[in-house]
Amino acid sequence: MWEQIEDDVHDDFKAYLANRYLKKEIKDIVFGYGPLEDLLRLPTISEIMVVDSDHIYVENSGVLEDSGRRFISDEVTLAIIERIVSRVGRRIDKSQPLVDARLADGSRVNAVIPPIAVSGPCITIRKFPARKLLIDDLVGFGALTRTAAEFLRAAVLSKKNILISGGTGTGKTTLLNCLSDFIPDKERIVTVEDTAELQLKKQHVVSMESKQANIEGAGEYAIRDLVRNALRMRPDRIVVGECRGAEALDMLQAMNTGHDGSLTTIHANSADDVVLRLEVLVQMAAELPIDSIHRQVASAIDLIVQLHRMRNGRRAVTQISEVVGIDRMTQRVKTRDLYLIENEEDPNAELTATGHLPTFMDDLIERKLLDLESFYQ
Ligand SMILES: Nc1ncnc2c1ncn2[C@@H]1O[C@H](COP(=O)(O)OP(=O)(O)OP(=O)(O)O)[C@@H](O)[C@H]1O
Ligand SMILES: [Mg+2]
Repeated sequence: MWEQIEDDVHDDFKAYLANRYLKKEIKDIVFGYGPLEDLLRLPTISEIMVVDSDHIYVENSGVLEDSGRRFISDEVTLAIIERIVSRVGRRIDKSQPLVDARLADGSRVNAVIPPIAVSGPCITIRKFPARKLLIDDLVGFGALTRTAAEFLRAAVLSKKNILISGGTGTGKTTLLNCLSDFIPDKERIVTVEDTAELQLKKQHVVSMESKQANIEGAGEYAIRDLVRNALRMRPDRIVVGECRGAEALDMLQAMNTGHDGSLTTIHANSADDVVLRLEVLVQMAAELPIDSIHRQVASAIDLIVQLHRMRNGRRAVTQISEVVGIDRMTQRVKTRDLYLIENEEDPNAELTATGHLPTFMDDLIERKLLDLESFYQ
């Protein structure tokens, strides 16, 4: 548009515009987040990725695109990173070149600087949604069907242990948030996260966030420490943002010792893959025989909800599986699909009931949480 009107604009006005633009840019660099400032303000942008000072990509309305903005130099990028991390009492330097932080509005930030980052400092920001997504929104976006959402609600109400699985940015935390909404108000919830992202609109919630070590290398509180502490806090439910290390063992043990109705997420590609991933994570905590891990997984976890990002950018639940026990022949954990998208390559495919009923269907019907018909619609 500027090209079309440029000739008609008076030089004084051009100078005024340039001046105003420069003032704003300088103000953003000196007091704010530099070129990220405008991107953070735009509500359609959900993710900001600084690859290097010349390239800043964004996810805008679900589409990955070049923002057209840039940092003046690596030094400026570094100064902005330092501003972000020092505000939350963390530090970043050559000896500690990776850091997680949070902006004042709750947005999650990860920064990596040289020598780890090869082409200069980079930043990844997952913006805090302007409005919390609700299960109805997810149904509206086509992430899952109303019937599947009703089933998950019934499962949460009957205190099933649920694991949400998916790749990076597939919507795990968002779904965890939505499932936590189903927890009855009178129950006491203890949440454990690396960076507090969950927004539980509940009366009785205690939230804990892990803490990195200080400069002397002391005072670290990892997710595992917090999960163990959560057990001593008389929780009705434990909600763990993500299991990605030794805490997986503590979670399984918690689920196996009467802390039913726990919810967490894990990075895996399918229900079967979840079991393999759990094996690896549990072995980070203790050297246990595989059979024993399988038994723990089989008795701890009730449901696995798999998320997937389709080719057209749509985020969807592609599989809801029940963990039904140990296969006598193979001694492996047996899962059974209750809902499935058969063809993940088809961007418009819908999640449909497989016809298998959950083993706890009786309980759901007895408690009037679900009708049998919902599986045969
Ligand atoms: N069903 C959905 N439809 C559209 N957008 C969604 C959906 N679910 C989540 N989002 C958006 O996608 C982005 C990533 O979601 P979320 O943080 O829940 O993913 P994640 O799997 O937890 O990511 P990570 O692996 O980084 O922890 C967020 O901006 C969120 O608002
Ligand atoms: Mg997440």
